[in-house]
Amino acid sequence: MSNFNLPNFPVSRLRRLRKTANLRDMFRETHLTRNDFIFPLFVAEGANFKREISSMPNMFQLSIDNVLRECEELLNLGIKSVLLFGIPDFKDETGSSGYASDGVVQKASREIKKNYPEMLVITDVCLCEYTSHGHCGVIENEYVQNDATLELLAKQALTHAQNGADIIAPSDMMDGRIAAIRKILDENNFQETPIMAYAAKYSSAFYGPFREAAESAPQFGDRKSYQMDFGNSDEAMREIALDIQEGADIVMVKPALSYLDIIRRTKDNFNLPICAYNVSGEYSMIKAAAEKGWIDGEKVMMETLTAIKRAGADVIITYFAKEAIKLI
Ligand code: PBG
Repeated sequence: MSNFNLPNFPVSRLRRLRKTANLRDMFRETHLTRNDFIFPLFVAEGANFKREISSMPNMFQLSIDNVLRECEELLNLGIKSVLLFGIPDFKDETGSSGYASDGVVQKASREIKKNYPEMLVITDVCLCEYTSHGHCGVIENEYVQNDATLELLAKQALTHAQNGADIIAPSDMMDGRIAAIRKILDENNFQETPIMAYAAKYSSAFYGPFREAAESAPQFGDRKSYQMDFGNSDEAMREIALDIQEGADIVMVKPALSYLDIIRRTKDNFNLPICAYNVSGEYSMIKAAAEKGWIDGEKVMMETLTAIKRAGADVIITYFAKEAIKLI
């Protein structure tokens, strides 16, 4: 920690370094860079399909041909990584379209890597978009079964890697899934495919708009028996420590904005890259208030993203990526 025993006023005048824009720029402590952003894409089956998500202005469900167009635009803007979520044609009890080798995310990864090999493709591993009940795992007695789900998640991760995914990002919050995924990847010659673990993922009402976007709302109950309670911080440290032991290369805190303390605590306690997910509700709140003219949307966006980085995030998943990079 630095030494805060400054001489008193009038010797110390902190306003000296705030006087001009030049001085402020020079001594700003936290900078957003063009390498900080990951942009989420919602990939749907079919062709020629682009449907705006009503609760997320400027965000779309896209067919694969449109995903490719989007990747071209992103690369031109300087955004070099995407996070893929799938919207399958059919759903069943075990989410089998999520781990099919011709699943929508598998196809999209393949096509992106074929056309834009320089694009970093990160894939979301979870069953909720693919199950008929909308939960993140296999259900028995109205309860999400941990160990039976691990096998399916591992299969899903493997099919993603086989189809070109550069980083695997499990978001399900089952216990032991990082180890299960690391094992199946290693056994199949994907030793060098990193895992970005949604390590401290809270059960959050800020995911509301996403569930419309991904058509993944649970059909009964909620996700509280697997995602974390928002009152907890020590438990987040245990989740992160376990995921690191199991082989996570990058850990994530999610959501970001209401959890800046968790990001900071992670930064102070661990020494691996931290990703923060600036989630759908955080995006839509700012968009809605800006639309009403109540806040300056661009300024609040930049302040928010800078705060997430200042808290300790190395990279940020954000629906704002395209707008923000234009202002850097
Ligand atoms: C689950 C998943 C969710 C989000 C990312 N992955 C939703 C959930 O857990 O219910 C939310 C992202 C957002 O709100 O932007 N596969």
